[in-house]
Amino acid sequence: MVSGMSEIDFKTELKQRTRKIDDIIAGFMPEEEGYQKVLYQAMNYSIAAGGKRIRPILLWEVYRLFSDTDEAVIYPLMAAVEMIHTYSLAHDDLPAMDDDEYRRGRKTTHIVYGEAMAILAGDGLLNLAIETALKVLNTEDIEIMARGAKALRVLFDKAGSKGMIGGQTADILAETGTLTPTTELLYFIHAHKTAALIQAAMMLGGILAGADEKCCEKLEKAAYNIGIAFQFQDDILDITGSFAELGKPVGSDNENQKLTSVSLKGLEEAKAEVAVLSREAIEILSSFPRKNEFLIKLVESLIYRSR
Ligand code: IPE
Ligand code: IPE
Ligand code: MG
Ligand code: MG
Ligand code: MG
Repeated sequence: MVSGMSEIDFKTELKQRTRKIDDIIAGFMPEEEGYQKVLYQAMNYSIAAGGKRIRPILLWEVYRLFSDTDEAVIYPLMAAVEMIHTYSLAHDDLPAMDDDEYRRGRKTTHIVYGEAMAILAGDGLLNLAIETALKVLNTEDIEIMARGAKALRVLFDKAGSKGMIGGQTADILAETGTLTPTTELLYFIHAHKTAALIQAAMMLGGILAGADEKCCEKLEKAAYNIGIAFQFQDDILDITGSFAELGKPVGSDNENQKLTSVSLKGLEEAKAEVAVLSREAIEILSSFPRKNEFLIKLVESLIYRSR
């Protein structure tokens, strides 16, 4: 164990931070009113279902690793990253994609509101993410404004067709046999569909805290490892996990004949790689002048996560 924080302290802290993030996100969500009320309901339904909130937590903890000043400056970015993630899930679950009926312990958005509303709720969340992220520029402080502008570029670069959307595209093309399943393709899919948004989250924390270019590059590398390991573990849990804990169906990847770490490498090799990638990430995160024990513990906990 690298971190000295006790398991109980870590779990209590994690719960508190997750709750605080839920409140922050809720503060940016729309009122359910007007002719498009059902759209707002579908948007709120998918985001309020909870979820681990890993991306905003990582953003926040990296910010703390580099700064002790006013955290409120990162709230819009934390909410925006989770909105982007949640829209990607609402679309990922659609019949045309992974066709799943449960997410975060509830029926998926398209099951409750219909496919058209699930598509529109996803669109709505993405647009709201842009509106929310732009609030980072509402400042008189020129330095914060410059950091905010840089953060926005990184966020939309990593979330877009060169990043997350590109990864989702390759995931679907591999499933339909249009792309040949190779190791290189597996890493492309995982690096883009999952690691890219985790990279954005962690880099945004560093950028807003004023971390220099070299530190941001190290954060990008650590987040790459965390992202690949996170998706490997997601693939593993699709086989070894339980619906009760995951809140989403198991066996979905197999049913869809997905190219996953487990289908390509087998369970044992995938598990071993999660551990190696995470240890490397922890080494990088431990190499900065300031320390964040909670962040280290969080990355460690992801190796053995069961949800
Ligand atoms: C699920 O993400 C999709 C992946 C990229 C693996 P999470 O495991 O973070 O899902 P939630 O947000 O906790 O529901
Ligand atoms: C989803 O990957 C990645 C994104 C939504 C960007 P998966 O399809 O493996 O995620 P789950 O298993 O449905 O949560
Ligand atoms: Mg998918
Ligand atoms: Mg899926
Ligand atoms: Mg999965």
